Amino acid sequence: MGRLKELRNYINGELDKIDDVDERTAATVHLYGVSLAAVILAKKRGLNEELAAMAAMLHDLYAYKTASYDDHAHKGAELAGKVLKELDLTNNEETEIICSAIYHHDDKNAVDSPMEELLKDADVISHTMNDPSKPVKEKEQLRYDNVCKEFGLT
Ligand SMILES: [Fe+2]
Ligand SMILES: [Fe+2]
Repeated sequence: MGRLKELRNYINGELDKIDDVDERTAATVHLYGVSLAAVILAKKRGLNEELAAMAAMLHDLYAYKTASYDDHAHKGAELAGKVLKELDLTNNEETEIICSAIYHHDDKNAVDSPMEELLKDADVISHTMNDPSKPVKEKEQLRYDNVCKEFGLT
């Protein structure tokens, strides 16, 4: 089994613990949606697709596990580190890349490293494109516009 599949199996198990069916569905759709967007962005930007997908699968797990977004990016990076260590799927350098992307994913106004930027943009793609009838939030407009430009979308 590939390591992305192995990570997804673990995350599916964690998502199964969410009692509320709507919440569970929303969490699943978001993590898999961000993961797909992350792979597309990684391909476009010449970054590691597998690490991008793994970071995306883990990026909001803390929030879903605790039902709290309080400092969820920083706490989520810590959780991701523990999960990756437990599953033994990544070397130290890869773990650091994934955890750093998760750590910074809520700093949408800052510009960070390419993988950190990728996760922020993938998150914004999920927020803005999962339901095109919803207006784009002001705080996500600039990233949304830049991603559309990058892909030649109007
Ligand atoms: Fe988040
Ligand atoms: Fe997210």
